[in-house]
Amino acid sequence: MGFSTDAIHAGNEPEATTGAVSVPIFQTSTYVQPELGRHKGYEYARTGNPTRRALEENLAVLERGAAARCFASGMAAISAVATLAKAGDHVVVSDNTYGGTFRLYSKILAHMGVEFAFVDTRDSRNVERAMRKNTRFVHLETPTNPMMSLCDIPAIAAIAKAGGALVVVDNTFATPYFQRPLELGADIVVHSTTKFLNGHSDSVGGAAISKTKELDEWLGFVQNAAGAILSPFDSWLVLRGIKTLAVRMDRHEANGRAVAAFLDRHPKVRNVFYPGLASHPQHELAKKQMGGFGALISFETGSYENAKAMLDRVKICSLGESLGGVETLITHPATMTHAAVPEAERARLGITPGLVRVSVGIEDEEDLLADLDGALSAL
Ligand SMILES: Cc1ncc(COP(=O)(O)O)c(C=O)c1O
Repeated sequence: MGFSTDAIHAGNEPEATTGAVSVPIFQTSTYVQPELGRHKGYEYARTGNPTRRALEENLAVLERGAAARCFASGMAAISAVATLAKAGDHVVVSDNTYGGTFRLYSKILAHMGVEFAFVDTRDSRNVERAMRKNTRFVHLETPTNPMMSLCDIPAIAAIAKAGGALVVVDNTFATPYFQRPLELGADIVVHSTTKFLNGHSDSVGGAAISKTKELDEWLGFVQNAAGAILSPFDSWLVLRGIKTLAVRMDRHEANGRAVAAFLDRHPKVRNVFYPGLASHPQHELAKKQMGGFGALISFETGSYENAKAMLDRVKICSLGESLGGVETLITHPATMTHAAVPEAERARLGITPGLVRVSVGIEDEEDLLADLDGALSAL
């Protein structure tokens, strides 16, 4: 089936007793069993819930995986995947991931005996150099947050495979509409469903989609054993959001391209980081492994004072953390999303005090350009 057909129909079977076209929110903690030793596939709602199951089936189809598991947040999904590594194992990570991923790995799992190598995954050879005998998995984010650099998924997957390691890709920014890492050689895809998948800034959630049943079995075990499950209502919200994913992503991207081109020409903006710009150093790779460039753009205003002045002036763009909602969200990575990354590391990565990140929404393009122009022209 085509992507939009799958987005609307996969997992979304009409409800058996009434024919309800929308999967019901099964707001229950347990299920009555007809007799001892017999049940209808559900025993307890931490272990399984039909609304969550519908979303998991939908995501498995969209990401072309064997199965999916949904969690209480993107970080809960990443935490579940991280349990693939045990004390003494080694993990290679993009040095430019979401700050919360860096914090989870460097401040929690490192203290539990897992070793991490944070490397510049724009160059696949850095992954090759970092690989060790005990490397359990390679965690990639592409495009990265907030510098919008890319990792060559097939090249890194080949390196990881040769070293006996798995590849995990955080596909939050691109979504399966623009990029399908499992088809490019990855083993697990993780998402913050909080972002584009739900798309309406009204739910926090996460997902992990596995290429094989074996990997999914472990993640299902962890989901039940550790218990960080997505609620029935949030599962329903994400299922509903995904039905319009394709049309939203098309509009996000059209606006994203227009905003990137506008910022690129603006005299008050120094650098624009967007894989859709021909000047982006990995533009060719973006064209090869992505079906579209998305709606996340970072740009350099030159100083904290400039960033603050423009962020204080925008009216339609909402100043806030997060991304991927229908409304344009604008953020200051150094003090907001990436405050958990040490200052020296931020400087090395290019997360300067003047850097601003925008998640372009689906408002009218001319209103967004006018809002940004008004805020920037005051600098
Ligand atoms: C790329 C990426 N991955 C993971 C996360 C974590 O997701 P959540 O906030 O749903 O825990 C975020 C959050 O911003 C993110 O941007």
